[in-house]
Amino acid sequence: MYAAATMSGRHFLQIPGPTNVPDRVLRAMDRPTIDHRGPEFARLSAEIFEGLGTVFGTRWPVIVFPSSGTGAWEAAIVNTLKPGDRVLMFETGHFATLWKKMAERLGLAVDFVPGDWRRGADPGAVEARLADDRQGAVKAVMVVHNETATGATSRIPQIRQAIDRARHGALLMVDTISSLGSIDYRHAEWGVDVSVACSQKGLMLPPGLGLNAVSDKALAAAKQGGMPRSYWDWEEMIKNNKTGFFPYTPATNLLYGLREALAMLREEGLAAVFARHVRHAEATRRAVRAWGLEILCAEPTEYSSVLTAVMMPPGHDADALRAAVLSRFDMSLGVGLSKLAGKVFRIGHVGDFNDLMLMGTLAGVEMGFTVAGVPHRTGGIQAAMAYLCSEPRGDQQ
Ligand SMILES: Cc1ncc(COP(=O)(O)O)c(C=O)c1O
Repeated sequence: MYAAATMSGRHFLQIPGPTNVPDRVLRAMDRPTIDHRGPEFARLSAEIFEGLGTVFGTRWPVIVFPSSGTGAWEAAIVNTLKPGDRVLMFETGHFATLWKKMAERLGLAVDFVPGDWRRGADPGAVEARLADDRQGAVKAVMVVHNETATGATSRIPQIRQAIDRARHGALLMVDTISSLGSIDYRHAEWGVDVSVACSQKGLMLPPGLGLNAVSDKALAAAKQGGMPRSYWDWEEMIKNNKTGFFPYTPATNLLYGLREALAMLREEGLAAVFARHVRHAEATRRAVRAWGLEILCAEPTEYSSVLTAVMMPPGHDADALRAAVLSRFDMSLGVGLSKLAGKVFRIGHVGDFNDLMLMGTLAGVEMGFTVAGVPHRTGGIQAAMAYLCSEPRGDQQ
C-alpha cells in the first residue's frame, strides 16, 4: 500500500519513470491554461520545437502528441508502414516485446530476433538478417534504445552501421522513451528515421506527451503510404505546427512544463546531463556488487545509465523487498516485468537527480534487504560513496 499519506518527508520515486518532477517544472505548469489558437501559444510552441530539436539532435520536425509513449509507438508505425510489411525487431525485454505485439496487431510481419533479456540488440544480427534480404522485403528495423525492463542499452550507431554495411534501405526506428534526455542520443547524426519518446522519463515531466522525431526519408514514406490514420497523422500535425498550432487541443499545461524542462536541460548542458547519469549508474553498480548481488544486464558495454536491474538471490521475492521498502522507507522501486516478475527489482537513477538522492535511494535498498531478510553483504553504501567522492561531478573537474 502507498504509505506517503501517513509519512513525513518526501516520497522517493525511484522507478525508471515516471521520474521525479522538479519543483521548477511543477511551478511552470501551475498557471492558467491559455487559448491554444492565440499568439502566446504560438510563441510557446516555437520555443518547444526548438528545444526538442536540440534534445533529439535533429532539425524540425518533432511531433508532439497528447499521449503516452505507446501512442507515439503507434504513430511511428501507422505513418510509415502498411499491413503485410516485414519488420525486424529484437527481443531485448518487456518493452520490445510489447512494441512487437503492437506491430503484429497492426498487421506487420515481424521477424523477432530472440534474446535473453540481458543485453541489447545485436548489430551483427542486424547485418546478417538484412544481408540475406536481397529483395528488400524488410521495411524497418525497430529497436528499443534503453530497455527499461532490463537496464540494457542497445548500441544505435553500430546498428546504423550494420544497416549501411548490408546496403539495405530499411527505415531505422528507435524507441528512445527511457533514454532521451538521459543517455547520449543523436537522431540525425545516427541516421535514425523515427525516434519515439515521451514526457515522463528524462524529460522530467508527468506522463501525457508522446513524441516522434522524423527524418526526411520517414516523411517520404508517410507521404507515399502508411496505414489509415487520423489522430496520429504526422501531416496534419506538421501543417499546423508550422504556424505554431495543433490540429486538436494540445496538452497546454504539460507544454509549459516541457518548456521549463528543456530550459533546465539547456542550462545544465546535455553533455553534463549524460555524464551525471553515467556516474550515478556506476555508483549504483558498485553498490550492487558490494552487496554480493548480480546485475541483470550481462554486457558491460550496454549497461544502462538510467536504471539498474538487480537480480534477487534465489528463493527471495523482489516484490516482498519492494513492499518492505515502500512501507518502511516510503520509496518506490521498479517492479520486475513479465517473465522477470519477482526475480528482479529496478533502481531508477534518471531525471532530476543528484548524489544525495542516489545515496538515499541506495540506503533505502540496503535497509530494505535487512528488514525483508534478503541475504546480502553490507558495504554497498560505502562503495557508492567512495566512488562518488573520488569521481567529482563533471562540472567540478
Ligand atoms: C522503453 C519503453 N517503451 C515504451 C514504453 C511505454 O510507454 P507508456 O507507458 O508511456 O505508454 C515504456 C514505458 O515505460 C518504456 O519504458
